[in-house]
Amino acid sequence: MRKPKVIVTRRWPAEVEARLQDLYDVQLNAGDRPMTGAELQEALRGADALLPTVSDKITAEVLSAEPLRTKILGNFGVGFNHIDIAAAKGLDLVVTNTPDVLTDCTADLAMTLLLMIARRAGEGERHVRTKAWTGWRPTHMIGTKITGKTLGLVGFGRIARAVATRAHHGFGMKILFHDPYPPPKEAAESVKAQACATVEEVLEQADFVSIHCPGGQETRHLINAGRLKRMKATAILINTARGDVVDEQALAAGLKSGTIAGAGLDVYESEPRVTEELLTMENVVLFPHLGSATRETRVAMGMRVLENLEAFFAGEPPRDRVA
Ligand code: DGY
Repeated sequence: MRKPKVIVTRRWPAEVEARLQDLYDVQLNAGDRPMTGAELQEALRGADALLPTVSDKITAEVLSAEPLRTKILGNFGVGFNHIDIAAAKGLDLVVTNTPDVLTDCTADLAMTLLLMIARRAGEGERHVRTKAWTGWRPTHMIGTKITGKTLGLVGFGRIARAVATRAHHGFGMKILFHDPYPPPKEAAESVKAQACATVEEVLEQADFVSIHCPGGQETRHLINAGRLKRMKATAILINTARGDVVDEQALAAGLKSGTIAGAGLDVYESEPRVTEELLTMENVVLFPHLGSATRETRVAMGMRVLENLEAFFAGEPPRDRVA
């Protein structure tokens, strides 16, 4: 029987690519160069399955490629706001993602940002490397204590809950959250988390605010100049979700004027471009979208795409269908 044709848009971990080669007539991207809109359209015309990731903008225009051969978009990643889901549904395309397997590592990274910014770790490291350090002194590079402080979560899905577990059980933090979709009671109880009716309520009370809602039109600039002003002047904002949830210009202005004390960012509005002003600020820690970037997790993400594909081509419902 003819193997389905599968196109992978970026380079994947070697063991997952090897498995893809066993199962499918696969086109890999050894050079890892992002595909253009025209190349994505060519792929949609030529393959039964397209396996994109966050760096591919699968817009309605891209999806208008004709004749469309692709039947499934097996996304490598949990977030899928780079795919026009309405357009995909309109074309009867199945879309899947990779939840669960990246929860722990993304939560670890959110905690890394929280710890680094609170304890001025990036700044301190630069201090040592540039040989500016003159030795220990009682008033040198003073940060802020984490243990016992209040962590506010915007969204209380899988990753937020994993962050809450680490923060509450590891650092004795008090947990607040706002989520328009109420979580199971046990999820909140296990970290003694208190639900807030509004985002503002979280922002006003929290010492650290960590964003964990999906990106896209509904949450675009949820954290804007007005909402940043609701935060404590000593507060720190962490974003490992999607860049467009935070108005990056407003954040840079707020950090500069002292509206809030600091920020730890793993995601940006126009990746890989970062608002120039942020690059020069000491009170921010900036990562290049590393949330799920561990060997174990990236392999697990790829294998999860494969699981979804195998189900689809066997005529069964894929486990992680989002459209
Ligand atoms: C995710 O899984 O959503 C990561 O941010 C990469 O897309």
